[in-house]
Amino acid sequence: MRRVAITVNGTRREAEVEPRQLLVYFLREQLGLTGTNVGCDTSSCGSCTVMLDGESVKSCTVLAVQADGHEVTTIEGLATDGEMHPVQRAFHEHHALQCGYCTPGMVLAAVSFLAENPHPSEEEIRHALEGNLCRCTGYHNIVKAIQAAAG
Ligand code: FES
Ligand code: FES
Repeated sequence: MRRVAITVNGTRREAEVEPRQLLVYFLREQLGLTGTNVGCDTSSCGSCTVMLDGESVKSCTVLAVQADGHEVTTIEGLATDGEMHPVQRAFHEHHALQCGYCTPGMVLAAVSFLAENPHPSEEEIRHALEGNLCRCTGYHNIVKAIQAAAG
């Protein structure tokens, strides 16, 4: 076991983890942050996307020990004082979800992307979302929501 200290949603969390423990299971099972979903476990679907030091990563491809000393943001950490993050609000207002399984990962991927590219074209948004799969929406409203949040 290894001791790690990871700042999750602004709070320093210390824990003992097995070196093989994936970040997504650390978040879900050790911290109880079940907003981060597991869709494939093989880095294909993006439903486990979180931000690591502000960059979106698939948390099923990161070991918890690799996040030691770093900052992680999950969907639970996006709202401020009970107010949804603008990207969350845009998803809500533009009906950018159906079952919602992909949504936390989509939102975090979008937040990270918009930080790098605040005025993206539709094509750039679609390209940025290539690693995040949605089986319900057809992506159209997700793209509209991200365009709206950018504005
Ligand atoms: S669960 Fe991580 S990419 Fe699918
Ligand atoms: S809303 Fe169902 S998978 Fe995207």
